[in-house]
Amino acid sequence: MKSYIVLLAFLATVILVNASKRHHHNKFSSSEHSGKCPRRKFCGKGKECRLNSQGQPQCFCIEKCPDSGHGTSICGSDGRFYPSHCHLNRYNCISGESVSIDSHGTTCGSSGKLSNHPLCSPEEFEILKDNLLLYNHEHLRSLDKEPNGKDYLLSLMFSHFDQNNNGGLDYAELQNVMAEDEMEKLAPPGCSLTHLFQFEDADGNDIIDLNEFYVAFNKLYSLNVPAVSLISLDKAVEVTHITAQVNDNVELKCDVTGIPPMRFIWKRYEVDLSTQDDHQIRVFSDGTLYLSNIQLLHSGNYTCHGERNSHVVQTHVLTVQAPPDVHVSPHIIMKKPGTNVTMFCRVTGGEPAPTVQWLKNDDPIIPDDSNNKYIIAKNNVALTILDVYFSDTGAYMCEAKNSAGRRIDITSLVVVAGSTQGEDQDSLHEDSKDEVNGFFVFHEKGISIYDPNDCRLMHQIQATDIIPGTQDYVCLNEQVPECIWGTSIKVSTSYVYVTQPTLDRILIISISQMVVVDVVTTDRYPVELSYLTHLDQVWVQCWRSVENRGEKTLQVIRDAKEKKKHHTVHPEPINSHFDVVENLFLPANTKSSSQFHYGYVTHKNNRGFYKLDLIALRYVKSIDLTLWNCVPETVQFSGLYGMIIIECREPVTGRQTGEIVFDALTDSVIHYKGDRFGKPYLSPDSRKLVTVSHDTTGTTLLVQRLTANGLQFSFDVKTSLNISLVAFYPSRTSHTYDLFASSVDKLDVLFVDLETGKVEMVTGFIHSSIPKSKLSTSLFPWNKPEERPISSQSLFSNYLVTRSQESVYIINGNTHTVNCQIGGLVAPSLILWI
Ligand SMILES: *[C@@H]1O[C@H](CO)[C@@H](O)[C@H](O)[C@H]1NC(C)=O
Ligand SMILES: *[C@@H]1O[C@H](CO)[C@@H](O)[C@H](O)[C@H]1NC(C)=O
Ligand SMILES: *[C@@H]1O[C@H](CO)[C@@H](O)[C@H](O)[C@H]1NC(C)=O
Repeated sequence: MKSYIVLLAFLATVILVNASKRHHHNKFSSSEHSGKCPRRKFCGKGKECRLNSQGQPQCFCIEKCPDSGHGTSICGSDGRFYPSHCHLNRYNCISGESVSIDSHGTTCGSSGKLSNHPLCSPEEFEILKDNLLLYNHEHLRSLDKEPNGKDYLLSLMFSHFDQNNNGGLDYAELQNVMAEDEMEKLAPPGCSLTHLFQFEDADGNDIIDLNEFYVAFNKLYSLNVPAVSLISLDKAVEVTHITAQVNDNVELKCDVTGIPPMRFIWKRYEVDLSTQDDHQIRVFSDGTLYLSNIQLLHSGNYTCHGERNSHVVQTHVLTVQAPPDVHVSPHIIMKKPGTNVTMFCRVTGGEPAPTVQWLKNDDPIIPDDSNNKYIIAKNNVALTILDVYFSDTGAYMCEAKNSAGRRIDITSLVVVAGSTQGEDQDSLHEDSKDEVNGFFVFHEKGISIYDPNDCRLMHQIQATDIIPGTQDYVCLNEQVPECIWGTSIKVSTSYVYVTQPTLDRILIISISQMVVVDVVTTDRYPVELSYLTHLDQVWVQCWRSVENRGEKTLQVIRDAKEKKKHHTVHPEPINSHFDVVENLFLPANTKSSSQFHYGYVTHKNNRGFYKLDLIALRYVKSIDLTLWNCVPETVQFSGLYGMIIIECREPVTGRQTGEIVFDALTDSVIHYKGDRFGKPYLSPDSRKLVTVSHDTTGTTLLVQRLTANGLQFSFDVKTSLNISLVAFYPSRTSHTYDLFASSVDKLDVLFVDLETGKVEMVTGFIHSSIPKSKLSTSLFPWNKPEERPISSQSLFSNYLVTRSQESVYIINGNTHTVNCQIGGLVAPSLILWI
């Protein structure tokens, strides 16, 4: 049994070898070696001179010996007949053996039959036949001739063997075929096709006729070796569709069959999944592919094929579904009779796209023109109840449904007489009392917290305040008498983390108490911060100089939202250096990217990146992008379909070199666009990709949709504004996102409806261009004074905030106007919603 397995492995390589050789000398295609050697070159017995693929003369084994006619066979010292000297020498050349001529013919036996050859047993001969079938099946497939059943295959084989077309196979023909097709490799040692005469020549006439040939290859069952059923796959299951839900475990079976049984190779984007170091994706020895705890990023195509045949391939198209999330606002409304009430609904995360409807006490609400009671906004994003009466009291439900499930959220409306308690402002925030509704502005004199409704100052932390429990000031030290900020982030609902690059530390501010509650020391110049909600980790990038010289160190603060003393740890260093990082790319902090457990790290001028296991804090592998001349500049992670979108630059020159779409599971490049330039931004729901590119005349915003088959063009917008940064804003007419974009040198803000392509300018700025003021000395490169950050708050908030060098502007995202403005700030470098 063991030798049988070895033989199979051997056979697999034979098929591969022959598959590649076949391109050069199969009878059906024109020969690539038709060129002649320029001069006579002696190559030795069994060899001839031909031009190799580089056009150089080279000695090869003779491709085809001249037909020698019949009855002139010579006997070899191996006991086989050869049609001519040429055939014998060719055989020696190919096999590396040194068969000589037995001029007496004794080794070959008197009748030319190997009547009692001791070396080929009946079982071994069965293996030869088995292999012959597999080989010829392969061969035909490679010529795009689909073998339709075994009889057809056998008839093709017979006519191929029957070189003189006389309806019978004689000894010389079989020897010839054996040598020409290099079948020695298919035969167990000692066996040859000519053994057909020993085992299958039923009538003993030294000719194998078609009947005997069929019987020979059909009685494989009679001996105790596995029957050959060719590798096959039912057409009906060539493409199989599987639908599963998020968090399911999925087991995929390969329907390719073949006897003897074989190992299966599973692939995604042509990458062998058994080589992936991913505990969620396993290939078992019985040939099944097991995906555990699947997420949206696992959707896509998985293929399988038998190890010894890569042509018969089954494709499993896996669609992962997720139920939607539904949020209404407000949750409780108290109103007097006669007033109008509006409630809002946002549906996120459902895959496939859910249907949405409003219900009252479980019954669908159908707007009725006659009584004019309800107004349902486009796509059910809002429900308005006109002129409420006591009977309107009830539970109003926003329901979203897709094939993965149904979710609801409820607004309770209570219509009460008399009391003025339930007026708009109070009731709207009824359910969010514990949330402080405001935003932090980090400027040179400290931190100010404002109310976006009216730009009222709610709280201040001064540079000169003492941090409780220490003797340190919030900002001041001897060298720099002002606040210098790096990045601020919100950690859960409890804390704000902000870096102080020149003080080598991070301040942790409690949102409820509005004081600094912890100070975390870091490596030199901590500038960038990122928070990963699903891992509760804060990642710190320390620049180690005032510019990013590609010698950053990375630090992690774990349990970031816990109430405790925090400290940093270093992830495992790359090549035993901590300080070689140029950039760190982490999944954005959105629900759809919470499936990512990996980040990527780049090194200066290195084409490619390192994959970083965010849980184990160690490097998993390096990914080479040299072929695409790509140093990743921007990386966007899409939880949908596991796509990673990369903006590429050339090393040193920084020239743009295109956009790569990358598969997060297999780390393989799916698409590459060498002429797609610009910075990609991904909407929080991963549905839209907006690429911002600049030229001398202005900016182009290219809007694409993410689909299972890649990125699809929606529309593009050209503007003469020099766009700085963009912010996604929950659409007021659908459950997706729209976009606001700030400009580098003007106060103007552009609005783009990402569904319809409609464009508008935000109005109400007092000046149109940014007032030029002296740049503060404290604006180090990380504050990028030319950038104008813009950000929106949450699903139901109405505001966005942006800044100039001394003012902060609140924009009403619904009306596209400036709501209010805060002036007189010194270098408001960071703004953060809480
Ligand atoms: C309620 O809305 C209707 C239709 O928009 C409007 O005509 C009416 O004046 C509103 N009523 C109140 C009290 O605002
Ligand atoms: C747009 O602004 C950038 C600075 O962010 C500047 O480098 C570039 O030259 C500007 N482009 C135009 C066309 O003004
Ligand atoms: C997945 O396989 C199906 C069926 O062969 C094909 O139509 C589709 O384009 C494939 N998708 C991708 C992303 O390769």
